Amino acid sequence: MIKQKEYAKRRTQLMEIAGQGGVIILRSATQKFRNNDASYPYRQDSDFLYLSGLNEPESMIVLLPEGDQGRSLLFCRERDSHREMWDGGMVGLEGAVEQFGFDEAYPINEMKKRLPRLLHGCERVHYDLGKDPEFDHLLIGWMNEFRAKTRKKYQAPDEIIALNHSLHEMRLFKSRTEIAAMRKSARVAASAHRRAMRVCEPGMNEAEIHAELLYTFIRNQCEASYIPIVGGGANACVLHYIGNRDELKDGDMLLIDAGAEYDGYASDITRTFPVNGTFSGPQRDLYQVVLAAQLKAIDEVREGNPWGQVHETAVQVATAGMIDLGIIKGGLDEALDEEYFNDYYVHNTGHWLGLDVHDVGEYEIDGHSRVLEPGMVLTVEPGIYIPPSATAVDEKWRGMGIRIEDNVVVTRKEADVLTTDICKTVDEIEALMAS
Ligand code: GLY
Ligand code: MN
Ligand code: MN
Repeated sequence: MIKQKEYAKRRTQLMEIAGQGGVIILRSATQKFRNNDASYPYRQDSDFLYLSGLNEPESMIVLLPEGDQGRSLLFCRERDSHREMWDGGMVGLEGAVEQFGFDEAYPINEMKKRLPRLLHGCERVHYDLGKDPEFDHLLIGWMNEFRAKTRKKYQAPDEIIALNHSLHEMRLFKSRTEIAAMRKSARVAASAHRRAMRVCEPGMNEAEIHAELLYTFIRNQCEASYIPIVGGGANACVLHYIGNRDELKDGDMLLIDAGAEYDGYASDITRTFPVNGTFSGPQRDLYQVVLAAQLKAIDEVREGNPWGQVHETAVQVATAGMIDLGIIKGGLDEALDEEYFNDYYVHNTGHWLGLDVHDVGEYEIDGHSRVLEPGMVLTVEPGIYIPPSATAVDEKWRGMGIRIEDNVVVTRKEADVLTTDICKTVDEIEALMAS
């Protein structure tokens, strides 16, 4: 678990970046309803979670960078025994200070009374517009009101600065404790994939495999970090397939993209394997191409390499492999220059990973691919998809979709792969499925 000290340190660091004269405001995520009276499980806004660890709706963080340490305030719900009887324990004002380390806590229903006073005397509001339109409206209203007043007692803020650049830059670099949480979420996800490989057999339904994945997540106190993709046969070529209701057929492959979330941190793993436990010749050949691309790309995950090099390397290896198999025509240089691979290699080779599956942080700086630095965590996930409609290629390849995805930490030495608990070579997969 991430400790309160670390959350407090993050708040202090953000206040230092914002500087004197700024006020930082973050709103919690709103509770969403699935339909009448039935709510979705509550998931806190990742920026809010990063700065507090608090998983309650109707809360607001206000950070005032003043003095040595700054002041951190939480507006939240007051404890209410009637409400707690329906919805369970609440943190309340005392808990905000004692358990969550805020300097001061106030009832959220006093926000409209107290916040304008806190804004007075500040020059800038550091806040992300667009996430909470109702509050955006309030804030802009207050700022306009202050500006209109001729006899100002205090200076009032007249500038809203997006928080996301500073905060997302902090979130991009993971601490030791964050990496420990991500390792745990990767282990749980890997164990779910192992279970899925073991139980899979022809005639099962994708839904049964989906259920096996959730079984492992939930009993390990995790949830799915996104809806798992369980795509048998040509469903693997639908990149965001979440229907998960078709029969798994003998002779087809199954692509599973499923990650767990532990303590807010995501893992994101994909494996592709034969439903019957044995790769056919063409399946093995195409699988080896994706695996070679992935291994070479992981090798590029090292301090000082541009992020884009990971993708370029994977594309080069995959393109060369597809030429060898006759899926793409022409020489390697021509195929790369003309981007012939684009028909079958349709997505980037990875993304940052953290509290969000597609985590925050810039990928380019001044128009150039960002250089990898220790503490960054990314996925490496090449994929080749040959839909049934791909009449330009030999029939034997059609309907195959293969992706292999691992989670990798950039370190001072070689890459630290968090997802090694689930195998990926042809022999290892066949052995696991036979066990
Ligand atoms: N599971 C989403 C992704 O791989 O990006
Ligand atoms: Mn991914
Ligand atoms: Mn994925």
